[in-house]
Amino acid sequence: MTLSTKPLGGMRQRYPEEFRVENYVTGKLREGSLKAGFEEYDGPVMEPLSLFAAKSGGELVERQSYTFLDRSEREVILRPEMTPSLARMIAHRGELQLPVRWFSMPLCFRYERPQRGRVREFLQFNCDILGSSDLSADLEIMMVLGGIMESFKAPSSIYRIGWSSRRFMTSALERCGVPSESVQTVFAAVDRRDKMKPGPWRESLMEACGGSEKIASMVEKLVGVESTGDPWLRELMEGCESHEEIVRFQDLLARSGVEGTSFSPAVVRGLDYYTGIVFELMDTGGENRRALCGGGRYDNLVSLFGSKKISGVGFGMGVLTLTLFLETYGLIPKTLESAHPADLYVAVVSGDVLAEAAALARFFRGRGFRTMIDVSGRKIGRQFGEASRLGIPRIVTVGSEEVALGRFPMKLLADGTVTTGTPEELASFLAAD
Ligand code: HAM
Repeated sequence: MTLSTKPLGGMRQRYPEEFRVENYVTGKLREGSLKAGFEEYDGPVMEPLSLFAAKSGGELVERQSYTFLDRSEREVILRPEMTPSLARMIAHRGELQLPVRWFSMPLCFRYERPQRGRVREFLQFNCDILGSSDLSADLEIMMVLGGIMESFKAPSSIYRIGWSSRRFMTSALERCGVPSESVQTVFAAVDRRDKMKPGPWRESLMEACGGSEKIASMVEKLVGVESTGDPWLRELMEGCESHEEIVRFQDLLARSGVEGTSFSPAVVRGLDYYTGIVFELMDTGGENRRALCGGGRYDNLVSLFGSKKISGVGFGMGVLTLTLFLETYGLIPKTLESAHPADLYVAVVSGDVLAEAAALARFFRGRGFRTMIDVSGRKIGRQFGEASRLGIPRIVTVGSEEVALGRFPMKLLADGTVTTGTPEELASFLAAD
């Protein structure tokens, strides 16, 4: 039997040229969070199932998770997201000075149907603030997200950060006639809107609204609203406290210059733990149909661990999803394609000088130059060909004559000029270049 050369469906493997792009993207994400004073953390890849069953929501845990019994018969899960682990870590360290601003780049697993932007093993960049229930924390999270999009030079015309508020939507739905015990079910139905065809979606909304056509129509009208100033919405929400919160948030976003945001009651988020402001970042073109990023405020997750109430707000962003978006708009620098793996290639004329060539390569590496040494044992001409194919700009040749003299020729492939010198002289020459 021959073994398949393919990995399991949806599991990631990245060849070096793909990893180069991933490193570029994750590097910018890290930079963006460090710039705003966030610190990096991580949690375990495998968690007890109960951690996610408690609050993440039925679909994620029941249909999309990798769960199994470990050798001690414990029900475990490969983390499908980071937020419950983060909440536990915060609850565990009661002495933490709050608020904290933390970010992470966890590997997550979801048993989803592999499709563009959705795979089964993925990196998800997370940014969260815990310990502040003030709207300034929601604003800061949006600013970090906006800053990240700017760092990739993505103009706000190509994406949209739709936002709403769970608190606001709960009161708005109740005013539309949705009984309070059905609000969560209606949230789940609204969250499916962009993932389903209009007909079946309408049916699932009707079902969530207890079969009431009147309520379903009101909800449909509500999720179609596009401004906090919409007259129908204002009348519906007259005197409602949560309405004031969204009006204030809209004003803060506008005046602080966060670009690409717009109020959208259709954004309610699929995860159960959100309680306040919620948001999603979407591509405005048709190419990338699933959200690039989603997040919001969660008030009650940390207290599940028996600790005091600590509110959090943050977002998760799929690195692959973001990368596909950047590729769509030509925002991955072309220079990454031609990036070369080393600055210097040490060509070895024959096996009897291998040890001296190796020592020379170590010398250059010690001086901070990315140095590759020949490992093919092929003729010198082919070694030059290899260095040129890899785009390595310079080659140092090591033969018995050079070893005897202690001086080595270094060729610049671009124009053929040769500089000969001791290792020290060559290193100074390179450093000055
Ligand atoms: P989420 O909406 O489930 O939220 O995921 C956030 C982002 O992770 C998505 O917008 C997408 O970019 C990426 N993502 C999700 N599933 C996949 C997948 N199967 N393949 C590739 N990328 C995927 C959360 O997970 C929340 N815990 C985010 C959060 C952090 N909320 C507050 N803090």
